[in-house]
Amino acid sequence: MFKAILVNNNDETGYSATITELDEQALPDGDVTVDVEWSTLNYKDALALTGKGRAVRRFPMVPGIDFAGTVRDSHHPGFKPGDKVVYTGFGLGETEWGGYSGRVRVSGDRTVPLPEGLSTRDTMAIGTAGFTAMLCVLALERHGVRPGDGEVLVTGATGGVGSIAVRLLAGRGYRVVASTGKSAEEGYLRELGASEIIDRKELSTPGKPLAKERWAGAVDVAGGVTLANVCASTRYLGVITTCGLAESMDFPATVAPFILRGVTLVGIDSGFCPMPLRMEAWTALAKELDPAVLGLITREIGLGDVISMAPDVLAGTVRGRTVVRVA
Ligand SMILES: NC(=O)c1ccc[n+]([C@@H]2O[C@H](COP(=O)([O-])OP(=O)(O)OC[C@H]3O[C@@H](n4cnc5c(N)ncnc54)[C@H](OP(=O)(O)O)[C@@H]3O)[C@@H](O)[C@H]2O)c1
Repeated sequence: MFKAILVNNNDETGYSATITELDEQALPDGDVTVDVEWSTLNYKDALALTGKGRAVRRFPMVPGIDFAGTVRDSHHPGFKPGDKVVYTGFGLGETEWGGYSGRVRVSGDRTVPLPEGLSTRDTMAIGTAGFTAMLCVLALERHGVRPGDGEVLVTGATGGVGSIAVRLLAGRGYRVVASTGKSAEEGYLRELGASEIIDRKELSTPGKPLAKERWAGAVDVAGGVTLANVCASTRYLGVITTCGLAESMDFPATVAPFILRGVTLVGIDSGFCPMPLRMEAWTALAKELDPAVLGLITREIGLGDVISMAPDVLAGTVRGRTVVRVA
């Protein structure tokens, strides 16, 4: 038997998330069975736990969009018992049994061997958010942005994606401007490597189709008016990655930045990211994020704390990353 969080939605109880005991027979099909050590609490998990935003697509569901742990049993040639692994996305916790479970069964073809130099806890301190931040950085550079080109903006900078994006970009030599709604966290953002902090309100009121050119690149987690303003103030041939909707799913913009300044807007999806890019991102994360920085960014909670903390994540009041001790 092992502990898991189960989300249900039915006429009797309405939407509910509870901790329960399950046995191995409940596990879905798959060729790799893993004893989960760590998971994380992400924005999408908070939606799944609270029933907001229809993150869960079938019930009952074990939420948790990522996990790291040790292989218990494998019928996949790439993995044997005792191997340490990390798994993010591919519908985990939405359509597939997720990481808030002492044991999981998944496809070995979608499982990543633990990157060298990282512990299972480190990989979850990074988690889906940090992995997404690296996808954003790789995309900026794939589209030609280089340190020395000018300022790079990170929105939602104290959040999971934002915190790690600030650190990764600063580590690569970029001048990072961090946009945040938490002015009290200026010291934290500077410690991560931000050169300048701006109030997120500067970006969240509707502006002109084209504003003064400022950003050589941007990592945006907000969407909405903020993303429209970021596009409007991006420099000629600048690049923006869009990965989130912390402000809004809307995109009330014009084509002006794209057709008059050659700006590129790149979409980022961590969920179904192909395996070669996945491996590239994890290898780079292991190389570029030292454990001391992960300590600064991360808080640890138990599986029993996950449900009560979800509303704080949705309210945007939680700083950095939250790792969940599952074992
Ligand atoms: N595309 C993908 O594959 C992918 C992967 C991971 C996450 N995401 C998405 O990316 C977004 C951020 O994820 P996360 O894990 O970093 O979440 P998070 O840890 O909850 O951080 C979100 C941050 O956004 C900022 N924020 C909150 N409300 C805002 C608002 N109304 N307007 C502007 N900024 C606001 C806050 O930072 P400040 O107070 O510092 O502004 C908050 O800490 C979410 O929408 C998530 O669903 C997408």
